[in-house]
Amino acid sequence: MAEVRTGKAGLCPEHIGLLDTLEELRSKLVRLGLAGDAPRENEWQSLNRGLRCFSRDLEDHMSGEETNFFPVVDWGLGAAESPTRFVLAEHQQIRRILQDIRKVLALSLGVVEDQFWPYFGRLSELLSALTSTLTSHIRSEDHIFFPLGQQILHRRMVDKQIPAQ
Ligand SMILES: [Fe+2]
Ligand SMILES: [Fe+2]
Repeated sequence: MAEVRTGKAGLCPEHIGLLDTLEELRSKLVRLGLAGDAPRENEWQSLNRGLRCFSRDLEDHMSGEETNFFPVVDWGLGAAESPTRFVLAEHQQIRRILQDIRKVLALSLGVVEDQFWPYFGRLSELLSALTSTLTSHIRSEDHIFFPLGQQILHRRMVDKQIPAQ
């Protein structure tokens, strides 16, 4: 499995938590693969539950950003100039990967022996893709997009408090 750099300097705690959980789930998958035989049903179900839970947490996180934060940036910069459409496109890309992961998990349950490994391989690829996409998304949010949004929020508050002369 390709190693993806996940340096977390300057990232917010919620983002670090998401990346840490994803790393744990990927490690769990690698350990199951290294064990050689197809994992036992309960081990696979445990990974399945962990990934579904992570998928829900990540969806809640993205929905929260879209509801609470993106409108502020759109308001401040005007919808045509706002970078939220790029960030939203990344959310959609992440959602597609999550959907594929859920599909593979649903199809893999109950599959045994040699028939199991193609699902394992596909899930490894998807978790690798999710890690690199989410890491890059989170870095651009914390280093570029959120500081910009905070500047806009700050300006909005100042504008409200100090009437124009
Ligand atoms: Fe996001
Ligand atoms: Fe985020």
